[in-house]
Amino acid sequence: MEADAFLDEVLSRVNAFLQQSQHVDQIRSTETHQSLNRISDLKLPLEGRGIDSALDDIEMVLRNSVHTTAPGFMNPLWGGLSVASIAGELVTAATNTAMYTYEIAPIATLIETTILKRMAELADFGTSQGTLTTGGSNGNLLGLLCARQSKNHLSSRSGFDGQKMVAFVSEESHYSFSIASNVIGIGHANLVKVQCNEQGQMRPDSLQEEIERALNNGQTPFAVLATSGTTVRGSFDPLRDIASVSHQYDLWMHVDAAWGGSCLFSPQYRSLMDGIELADSFCWDAHKMMGIPLICSAFIVKNAEVLRSVCSTGKEAHYLYHDTGENVDLGRYSLQCGRRNDALKLWLAWREIGDAGWASMLERFMGLADYLQNRVNEHDALEMVSDRMWTNVCFRYVGTAPEEDLNQINAELRERLIRDGRFMVSRSTVNEQIILRSVIANRNISEESLDAFLDRVVSLGKDIERGLPQQ
Ligand SMILES: Cc1ncc(COP(=O)(O)O)c(C=O)c1O
Repeated sequence: MEADAFLDEVLSRVNAFLQQSQHVDQIRSTETHQSLNRISDLKLPLEGRGIDSALDDIEMVLRNSVHTTAPGFMNPLWGGLSVASIAGELVTAATNTAMYTYEIAPIATLIETTILKRMAELADFGTSQGTLTTGGSNGNLLGLLCARQSKNHLSSRSGFDGQKMVAFVSEESHYSFSIASNVIGIGHANLVKVQCNEQGQMRPDSLQEEIERALNNGQTPFAVLATSGTTVRGSFDPLRDIASVSHQYDLWMHVDAAWGGSCLFSPQYRSLMDGIELADSFCWDAHKMMGIPLICSAFIVKNAEVLRSVCSTGKEAHYLYHDTGENVDLGRYSLQCGRRNDALKLWLAWREIGDAGWASMLERFMGLADYLQNRVNEHDALEMVSDRMWTNVCFRYVGTAPEEDLNQINAELRERLIRDGRFMVSRSTVNEQIILRSVIANRNISEESLDAFLDRVVSLGKDIERGLPQQ
């Protein structure tokens, strides 16, 4: 088969997969790790099998992939896709380049710069610098590295003793901060978890107490890490109040807006991040709520020099960077060397729908989350387990079972949902209660699909309850 006929065929199969995802009953194959391994031919041949055989392989991959754009997919903080951004992925692959220098990625450099500038403007960040990263986890790592650099200007050059340096984060924050604390050399023990209120928001008074405690213990506070959109409950920390505590102690303030950053588009919901302009840095995942294919994530910092020194290579990268007097090479602001053009897919999607389109998409998601919450509240067999600020709907099946059985029932319910293959939500724990977390971040979800989801939850819950030994 010629290359162009092959590519046409691939596109048509991908398109068929996406179409099928809109109304499949089974969004996930029921094969286990063992059985899928047994029936799949994955071995790498000694002699090549030719391009035609790639079509069979692609078919096999599509058949065994989760339909993450299906309306029943509400599991992680992403799902659904913008078609324009799929085109962006394709063009990124076809124009294969690395983002380190303008020379090798001219238009891509300008596109990435445009995106970062607009994201910074949305946060009222003024002049700033940024980079696209491999995700919110790495954005949080960069935030901590910048904080470290800002406290100790020599740390990137001479290393540092992190044993007394402490950073503060909400107890409901993402685990990537723990990983980052290890990587930057302060260790998990020096990442202080600050108490949250009942809505899962970091308490500014507790933050202040923890900072005072650290100072009294002879430790050196250097960073406050707030979250806009926590992983489980979707809570937004009160940024303005947190900023005033951070500034009082002259601490770097980083905001993890990986999940909640999209609220900045909506006049209705922007206030959730009120005070973001007072932070020093933030990250924002376009591959979460905005429906851009993984990976697409921004890290933005007010002080470009701090990021530049964190990513400085000295004179070693003489084969890449030359002193042309122009400051146009994005590689100087990145921890990566080779880096994909992840900006293109976001830029295409953004040009397609504009700021207004993002705002109405998010407002629709919030409307659907309200709908799901109301349906849960109306149902005798279901119970919301947390107040809601964002599109995370955390609830559990209660039926007529006693409290002591509910964790077991909900854990089993989630297992059966996954085996069933029609709906996918995640299982989490809130206040020691096992709960189902459904997330609205997928443009194919509708009120009808949410109704069908709850019907399924209730019917599985009742089955499980009936099967429990009588007390
Ligand atoms: C609040 C929050 N921050 C950061 C991350 C990490 O983002 P990524 O998966 O893009 O590294 C997540 C992931 O779900 C998250 O929920």
